[in-house]
Amino acid sequence: MPKKWNVASVRASKGVSRLGCCTAYDSCFAHLADEAGVPILLIGDSMGMNCLGYSTTLPVKMEETLSATAAVARVVKEAMVVSDMPFGSYQCGDDAAVANAVKCLQAGADAVKLEGGATVCGLIRRLTSAGIPVLAHVGMTPQSVNEYGGFRKQGKTREAAAKVLADAKAVEEAGAFAVTLECIPNELAAEITAALKIVTIGIGAGPACDAQWLVMHDLLGLNDSVPSFVKKYANLADVVRGAFSAYVAEVRDGVFPPCA
Ligand code: KIV
Repeated sequence: MPKKWNVASVRASKGVSRLGCCTAYDSCFAHLADEAGVPILLIGDSMGMNCLGYSTTLPVKMEETLSATAAVARVVKEAMVVSDMPFGSYQCGDDAAVANAVKCLQAGADAVKLEGGATVCGLIRRLTSAGIPVLAHVGMTPQSVNEYGGFRKQGKTREAAAKVLADAKAVEEAGAFAVTLECIPNELAAEITAALKIVTIGIGAGPACDAQWLVMHDLLGLNDSVPSFVKKYANLADVVRGAFSAYVAEVRDGVFPPCA
């Protein structure tokens, strides 16, 4: 019987084993990632850009997150499944936020992720005391894109770095079992990782984090253009384009289906 990743095993990985985690938005790719041993699959709100044709994460709706969470959770055997709470689903008052997080777990998630530091600590306390594990997210929080005026690295000045560190300590203290550090300087991510007892999962935050995220479509090379910190482990965009154009040509030329 395979052992499923959970809050305790993610916590226990700190300082022992570095976890390569990624997003997943559908059952087909989630199944493959799970079979390959990815320990945490995040139904990221980056689904907005990677699957739904939006230019930011902001338009993603609860129904879209729930549907994708259910698809992933149906096929996954070992990975921890984390629902990324979409914009508006937890900024609408803590009662509504808890109700939305409950829907994520009822759709099959093992935990929820939400963006923010000190300002969301009250909510993190409520969720964890209701039995809903929380993966926090500080640094560059894409749902604040309009406040930043673009997806920009955060924590670059001394004051900004101190705020990111304080946010990370606050979410740990509030009960988050892990924290995403997105697009902050490598040295700051190293300092936070050393200061916290919980696992830090970096994305664009350098090698010192306890674990890493990559967006699945970036790591598989399904996106032609990717952020500079991304490593493409395959170039599926070319493979997929090649397969589609071969199929179209073979049908046009009477090669497929074969005559006999
Ligand atoms: O939605 C997303 O892709 C994320 C990343 C941190 C992995 O939140």
